[in-house]
Amino acid sequence: MTEIDARSVRITLGSSLPEPDESTRRMITSGRSSLAFILGDEACRYRLLAKSINWDRILIAYRDCTTVGYAAFKHHRRGPFSPGIGPFLHEFGRFRGALRYLLFAITEYREWYYGFYLYGLHVIKHARHQGIASALLEATFDQARLAGHDRVELEVHSKNQRARRLYTRQGFIQARTTPLNWLGRLLPFPAVISMRRSLAPLPGTARK
Ligand SMILES: CC(C)(COP(=O)(O)OP(=O)(O)OC[C@H]1O[C@@H](n2cnc3c(N)ncnc32)[C@H](O)[C@@H]1OP(=O)(O)O)[C@@H](O)C(=O)NCCC(=O)NCCS
Repeated sequence: MTEIDARSVRITLGSSLPEPDESTRRMITSGRSSLAFILGDEACRYRLLAKSINWDRILIAYRDCTTVGYAAFKHHRRGPFSPGIGPFLHEFGRFRGALRYLLFAITEYREWYYGFYLYGLHVIKHARHQGIASALLEATFDQARLAGHDRVELEVHSKNQRARRLYTRQGFIQARTTPLNWLGRLLPFPAVISMRRSLAPLPGTARK
């Protein structure tokens, strides 16, 4: 279990909590807004994804039992969500549901290019500027090292200056500016920047 104490905020792997509550599920499924053309609005994303969260791929930051942020990550072909096609068919009907599911699977598949990938990072508004995202990133680095990876990679919208500053301060460097290649030309994705950060191994651990 990863656990960090930073100014009364605790960070824990979701799989080590008994049963994360509905508001935590809502926060986690509210991400991926850039995929709204596939996954619909926030309420729709909740219906599609909330029952298929892989809690061992989510770090939760909480203060006084309230969730204040999360980091989601992917490695070894497992990310934070594993939805079946069922919820998509139920939500959008047979044809549109199957098409949207296929598109979602393609976007998920594309990210397997990365070894350890930061899939999402979010801190609720009133808890920002207190170092919570920075602490979540530190905990994410620990997860990557434990999984045998020597770098963490991510994609950030080029216009998201706040997040870009955070990542740069946390040691990420810009790797590529146009990682979406053919997919970006086919689908309405925003421009993203690919960043990576190298990690020193934990003492006494071997690389996989
Ligand atoms: C981007 C985001 C995750 C940052 O979360 P955060 O918890 O505010 O991040 P931090 O507190 O670690 O750092 C943010 C700023 O607060 C400052 N800060 C950190 N601890 C502080 C403290 N104790 N007191 C005052 N300021 C502090 C940092 O220096 C940083 O300043 P900067 O913006 O000038 O660089 C948050 O704004 C968010 O959820 N945004 C929406 C989702 C998003 O964009 N996610 C990224 C997707 S790639």
